[in-house]
Amino acid sequence: MFRFRLIILILGIAAVAAAFVYLAPETAHSQRRPPVRRSTPTPKVPKFDHRNEAHQMECSSCHKFPSDNWKAVRPEADAFEDITDYPKHESCLTCHEQNFFTGSPPTICSICHVNPSPNDSTRHPFPNPREIYDKSPKGSSASSDFSVNFPHELHADIVSDNGNSRDGRSMFVAVSFRRNAAENCAVCHAIKDPQGKDPAEFYTNPPRGLGNTFWLRRGTFMSSPLGHASCFTCHSADSGMSPAPTDCAVCHKPKEAGPGPDISDAVMARMKVSDKVVRAAWQMRTSVGTFRHELEMHRDMECSTCHMVGTIDTVNRTARRVSISSCVMCHVTPTAADGGLLNVELERREKNARFDCVSCHVVYGKMPVPASHIKAVKDAGN
Ligand code: HEC
Ligand code: HEC
Ligand code: HEC
Ligand code: HEC
Ligand code: HEC
Ligand code: HEC
Ligand code: HEC
Ligand code: HEC
Ligand code: HEC
Repeated sequence: MFRFRLIILILGIAAVAAAFVYLAPETAHSQRRPPVRRSTPTPKVPKFDHRNEAHQMECSSCHKFPSDNWKAVRPEADAFEDITDYPKHESCLTCHEQNFFTGSPPTICSICHVNPSPNDSTRHPFPNPREIYDKSPKGSSASSDFSVNFPHELHADIVSDNGNSRDGRSMFVAVSFRRNAAENCAVCHAIKDPQGKDPAEFYTNPPRGLGNTFWLRRGTFMSSPLGHASCFTCHSADSGMSPAPTDCAVCHKPKEAGPGPDISDAVMARMKVSDKVVRAAWQMRTSVGTFRHELEMHRDMECSTCHMVGTIDTVNRTARRVSISSCVMCHVTPTAADGGLLNVELERREKNARFDCVSCHVVYGKMPVPASHIKAVKDAGN
């Protein structure tokens, strides 16, 4: 085993060195020629894809827990054993030795390195911690191959924040969370970018004369954990609580296909919404693209009015849907004359087949009315 490792290591160093020795004569050669237009465009940086069949290996064959730099990436008080750097060369070389030698510099290096060369090992920030990665040129446009599996029901009764703090992180105690009180959910979810008392209502400046046109308001989305800080307080090597931090695949599941979201790239571009976390949350919305959590009446309700906390399947995009039945109490009235949002829109749609239902929707409002909506209005009329 040791021998094998050693050979891989030497191969690694040799590969890096060889890649550049190999480059040198070419560069020298081209200097003697008159300048010609480069026929080859800058090579595209290949994307590492976990879904590639050849990459279906134990996560630990590439991700060694913890990373060497875990103490360096976070301030000392917040640091904990974590995956915070790229897999090393040996994880790839067994199969990609060729790619480590081909190209100038080899394109494969750019997955991990900013400016690959034999004497520059600077790397892009690793995707974790997200707070750093999302701000980098690579991270700002990257998206994950995974969804997070957080079985809320298994954590009922055990997750709560008692306000104490250890190493700057929350401590959890056994306090009931079955009643779904928002303060328990608040350990992991908070209104993102709330407007509060600030007069600035929107994320970005709306055009003049906006009228009733939808424009994204602050306080629309609920945040979710961006990393391991809260999970690893319990799921640590010390606690022995399953899943262990090394059981990556229990929490990270391959992304499943699902219904298209109630938002489009074009609309986000028009509104100049660039925050990656906001964009990602919006793209996960498969029921109501415009719903705003911070709106007073919405904020004052128990989360469980709208979210089936006991059965949330965070990996399944259809199961995430919030049912129209949780809106009926306030947005459906016996008749349209009583002003119910859904009644009014449904009536207008009946009169004009092209009417766009813009109150709750960004994209879905142009589609055929689902049976759930017609039933909700019919039921309220009786
Ligand atoms: C063959 C090597 C390899 C294996 C096996 C592997 N990874 Fe990765 N993983 C990588 C590399 C390389 C990156 C960095 C990719 C990048 O930033 O472009 C990465 C990045 C990630 C990321 C951040 C990017 C994203 O898509 O969200 C997560 C999460 C992750 N790996 C989880 C896992 C899990 C879970 C498993 C096991 C099911 C696993 N990895 C198996 C090599 C591997
Ligand atoms: C067990 C063998 C194996 C290991 C280990 C492995 N790969 Fe791969 N990888 C493959 C195979 C096979 C393909 C598919 C090649 C193809 O389709 O042409 C592939 C495809 C890729 C591609 C896509 C190439 C393209 O142009 O589409 C990238 C990028 C890549 N691997 C990067 C990596 C990196 C980085 C590592 C190490 C962290 C790694 N791989 C580890 C076998 C492996
Ligand atoms: C899957 C990510 C990944 C890829 C692909 C990759 N590197 Fe690295 N590289 C690393 C990591 C991680 C280290 C730090 C290793 C350590 O600390 O032991 C490193 C270290 C280095 C170093 C410092 C010396 C050494 O070997 O430790 C150089 C130089 C380097 N890489 C160049 C390259 C070049 C050139 C390529 C392409 C031929 C390449 N790397 C491909 C992740 C990668
Ligand atoms: C320990 C952290 C934690 C706690 C406590 C927690 N959640 Fe979550 N929640 C998560 C994670 C992780 C996700 C997945 C996020 C993602 O997909 O990016 C999630 C996703 C969600 C979603 C997203 C959509 C869905 O249906 O899948 C809803 C809604 C939700 N949680 C509601 C709640 C409510 C209500 C509570 C309180 C009863 C709560 N959560 C408590 C971690 C937590
Ligand atoms: C009046 C109904 C309602 C209440 C009350 C409510 N939510 Fe939501 N929530 C929604 C809707 C609608 C969505 C968007 C779902 C979709 O389109 O897939 C959503 C989405 C979410 C998401 C995913 C991120 C996002 O904003 O799209 C999380 C997490 C979440 N809610 C947590 C909570 C928590 C925690 C509470 C209690 C503090 C809560 N919600 C209260 C209706 C509600
Ligand atoms: C307060 C401690 C605590 C925190 C914080 C916590 N967990 Fe757990 N988690 C547990 C316990 C205890 C279990 C086992 C429950 C059981 O088996 O009944 C568990 C079970 C799980 C399971 C199911 C494992 C299986 O075998 O099916 C997953 C997945 C999981 N947790 C993910 C997470 C994620 C993701 C986070 C962070 C967002 C998190 N947990 C935060 C205590 C915690
Ligand atoms: C107890 C559950 C749990 C385990 C075990 C776990 N993760 Fe995570 N991981 C999470 C959660 C929750 C997040 C943040 C939410 C998200 O990614 O959407 C996260 C985020 C990440 C990120 C940041 C990028 C991203 O996708 O947002 C990387 C990289 C990552 N994990 C890699 C790993 C690797 C590699 C392992 C195994 C060594 C691992 N994780 C083990 C729960 C877990
Ligand atoms: C009060 C808010 C509200 C109004 C007004 C509203 N919807 Fe919805 N819509 C929802 C919710 C909640 C869902 C998600 C799940 C459901 O159907 O119960 C949804 C889902 C949808 C879907 C996706 C259904 C699917 O199964 O894929 C379409 C399409 C849709 N609505 C069209 C419309 C149209 C057309 C109108 C106008 C007549 C309208 N909606 C008015 C709240 C609303
Ligand atoms: C307890 C009452 C209540 C419930 C339940 C409720 N809302 Fe609201 N909602 C309000 C009030 C009050 C307003 C602000 C006044 C208004 O515009 O009607 C509002 C405003 C809105 C708006 C902005 C409308 C506009 O055009 O300005 C949307 C969109 C919305 N709600 C969606 C929903 C969805 C979707 C649900 C169900 C998931 C829901 N609401 C559940 C009370 C409620």
